[in-house]
Amino acid sequence: MSKIIFFINGRQIAAEDPSGTTTLLEWLREKAYLKGTKEGCNEGDCGACTVIMESMEDNRLIHSAVNSCILFLHQLENKSIRTIEGVSSPEGDLHPVQEAMIKFNGNQCGFCTPGIVMSLVSAHTNGTSDLDTILAGNLCRCTGYDSIINAGEESLQKPRPDWIDNIERPAHQVPQNTGNGTIRNPVCLDEFADWYAENPNATLIAGGTDVGLWVTKDLKSLPTPCFISDIPELKKVKISGNVMTVGAATNLTKFDDVISKYYPSLSVMINRFGSVQIRNVATVGGNIANGSPIGDLPPALIALKSKLILRRKDTRRKLPLEDFFVDYGVQDRQSGEFVEGVEIPLQHEWFRCYKISKRRDQDISAVCGSFLMELNFQTIDDIRIAFGGLAAIPKRASATEAFLQGKTLNLETIQMAMELLETDFKPISDMRASSAYRMQIAKNLLLKYYFGRQRMSGHQQSIPAR
Ligand SMILES: Cc1cc2nc3c(=O)[nH]c(=O)nc-3n(C[C@H](O)[C@H](O)[C@H](O)COP(=O)(O)OP(=O)(O)OC[C@H]3O[C@@H](n4cnc5c(N)ncnc54)[C@H](O)[C@@H]3O)c2cc1C
Ligand code: FES
Ligand code: FES
Repeated sequence: MSKIIFFINGRQIAAEDPSGTTTLLEWLREKAYLKGTKEGCNEGDCGACTVIMESMEDNRLIHSAVNSCILFLHQLENKSIRTIEGVSSPEGDLHPVQEAMIKFNGNQCGFCTPGIVMSLVSAHTNGTSDLDTILAGNLCRCTGYDSIINAGEESLQKPRPDWIDNIERPAHQVPQNTGNGTIRNPVCLDEFADWYAENPNATLIAGGTDVGLWVTKDLKSLPTPCFISDIPELKKVKISGNVMTVGAATNLTKFDDVISKYYPSLSVMINRFGSVQIRNVATVGGNIANGSPIGDLPPALIALKSKLILRRKDTRRKLPLEDFFVDYGVQDRQSGEFVEGVEIPLQHEWFRCYKISKRRDQDISAVCGSFLMELNFQTIDDIRIAFGGLAAIPKRASATEAFLQGKTLNLETIQMAMELLETDFKPISDMRASSAYRMQIAKNLLLKYYFGRQRMSGHQQSIPAR
């Protein structure tokens, strides 16, 4: 049995996990007896289990707040974890965040407190200060957020204590191949591609933010888990001409860093994807490969005319992203084939996307709408409309697109197109939204796109009274 070598609060650990499905939280509490990290929801929602994961990316040390409840031990190879027990100095000096939490009475029962402290310490270490974003993944049921926010506002201004940097970390910076016959942790893309073609029933795990719940909520054991997020090529982002190629295992935080300057509206949406903790591990490839009808990225990437790169052994094929989604739970992916990356054209000025959910943060979309319209003077020359949440798969509004193609862009045309969305989609009702609500939202998003565009172009217009 090969061991997983990682660091906890500066101490090197060699852990065994023959099941491949032990979570870091389980291990911290049951094996390491580090009980400061709490278990709340066990599904990535409440942040009680937040720890900081440090890893080398592109020769930079990255400090990421992550949910330990859905992080598998096998994802930790060559990484360094800081828990609440490792936040104060070895001599017992409190971290500025801890001092401020005490000063402002930031806890009552204290259950959420370690997670909140870890999110704030991570932000403090990274030099970020937007508390709405930093704390979106941490729930407190008793204090009321004022005291926590006051503690955050004060402590994030304070200098970084030196003991945060003076800690033992992994010496070797290149991840090592680990795993045995049934648990794989590959770092070489070609070797992985050959192996997966021969072992197509293996469970691929990138960030594990979906797969983690199969284990913690559905109590599944995973046949042959294969952890792919340490394969360097799968985390690369390249720009060539007007196209960005994003490796499948690129996490949402990094994806936002690279895409935001091209598509600010996509960046706004990414920042409403889960929470900081989720975005720090959830991957672009995982959000596509899971085939979810309500994943946030697919409608946006479809509207942007992205192409998916699929690979089996050394054979690659590219397909328009929309063609990957065949039916609910069915994707155009052959046995032994995996998502290697996605190509995203970068030149579309008039792309916009919108996420509609009950809460602003940490919520799954009821509807996600994405729009791209290129004009030749006032004539619609090229049009893409894609929605999530309206069908069994992320899908283009083909009838609406066909109607708009070649038309003059004005309010009347858009209002006619809004009605055509009823031809394209028959949304279902579920706990997130009713069918009628979804349809009305879809129409309104098209109108919102139009008005937003008119405003940006300097034309003010409002809907005439009916
Ligand atoms: C609390 C919480 C909040 C969330 N919020 C959102 C949200 O706001 N919006 C949203 O869209 N989703 C959300 N999700 C869902 C999830 O985070 C995303 O779908 C995420 O992008 C999945 O990526 P991952 O790397 O974690 O996938 P994993 O869990 O590792 O894998 C997901 C699936 O894809 C497969 N897979 C992964 N990578 C590849 C690959 N390269 N090739 C082939 N198959 C692959 C896996 O085998 C598995 O079937 C949330 C999840 C949680 C727990
Ligand atoms: S226990 Fe709730 S996010 Fe992990
Ligand atoms: S202090 Fe009790 S849950 Fe936050």
